[in-house]
Amino acid sequence: METVYITRRETFNAAHKLYRPDWSEEKNEEVFGKCSNKNWHGHNFVIYVTVKGVPNEDTGFVMNLKDLSALLNESVIEELDHKNLNLDVPFMKDVMASTENLVILIWKRIEGSIREKGGELAKIKLVETENNYVEYYGGKEPF
Ligand code: NI
Repeated sequence: METVYITRRETFNAAHKLYRPDWSEEKNEEVFGKCSNKNWHGHNFVIYVTVKGVPNEDTGFVMNLKDLSALLNESVIEELDHKNLNLDVPFMKDVMASTENLVILIWKRIEGSIREKGGELAKIKLVETENNYVEYYGGKEPF
């Protein structure tokens, strides 16, 4: 049977700043630019979660996208939407609130639940702005 990749898109908005208290203001500004603004800034994030598998013989589904959506809303969107990534999100505690770190931690949160539903998490794409996005394949090479 053939492997197929399915993707669910969800959105959330969140505030953050990229700032190291152990660095001077100047160094923070130099490395993080506008993202180091003390008074925070926000993004409208778009997340694409891709699951791979062989379509089930009875349903024709790799995984029910309704189940995937419910799982994402419960484990990711509820946790992040309208939150401050530096202050409000337990799983981001003590982590630089970069999109790279966020995508890795989201993967860890949902990988097991997706497997329980019969899918295998293959990729997460997290779009921060129109021009910037990150992709994560669980630490593996894409293909
Ligand atoms: Ni930012």
